[in-house]
Amino acid sequence: MSFADLTRERYSCRHFTEESVEPAQLAAILEAGRIAPSACNKHPARVMVCDTPEKREAAAAAQPRFERDGSVFGAPLVLVVCAVEGDAWVRRADELSSAAIDTAIVCDQMMMQATELGLGTCWVCAFDPAVARERLGLPEGVYPYHMLVVGHAADKIDDAEKRAARTIPLGDFLL
Ligand SMILES: Cc1cc2nc3c(=O)[nH]c(=O)nc-3n(C[C@H](O)[C@H](O)[C@H](O)COP(=O)(O)O)c2cc1C
Repeated sequence: MSFADLTRERYSCRHFTEESVEPAQLAAILEAGRIAPSACNKHPARVMVCDTPEKREAAAAAQPRFERDGSVFGAPLVLVVCAVEGDAWVRRADELSSAAIDTAIVCDQMMMQATELGLGTCWVCAFDPAVARERLGLPEGVYPYHMLVVGHAADKIDDAEKRAARTIPLGDFLL
């Protein structure tokens, strides 16, 4: 599939079957994240793989609203994308940390790789990082920014017209 088709194919999947993600698929997804670019090549991102009932439950506890069947949206796999805060590049002019940016790129590359493999994904940020840190036992200095839920889709992409209505028109997108 071309990259352009892939970007049109992706949507936020919020219903998953019970089928698990194959180890080879997980390996490919993680590899896509591992090789992501990072500011000043500092690689602050770290990923916690939640594919056991205990870990999925812990991830879901940080966002009870999205909890289904002991996981986030019932997904068999939740990838928690974190940063070692002290490792991130900081822009001198305004002290902007690249942690959120670098982890977002990792998350995006993993999301698109999963999409190419025919899997459904949803990027989730509306969770309580303090609960995630505590329940997942994250080490000091490691902050959870994003969760990527992955699995076999039990829902479908909206039709093109509905999707187009939700996207930003080009005229507004360009400054
Ligand atoms: C940074 C980020 C955070 C998001 N957080 C959530 C979330 O917490 N819960 C959720 O259901 N969807 C979340 N989404 C998915 C968006 O709601 C979704 O991408 C948007 O509505 C467009 O729909 P589409 O992904 O199907 O094109 C998030 C997406 C991004 C990029």
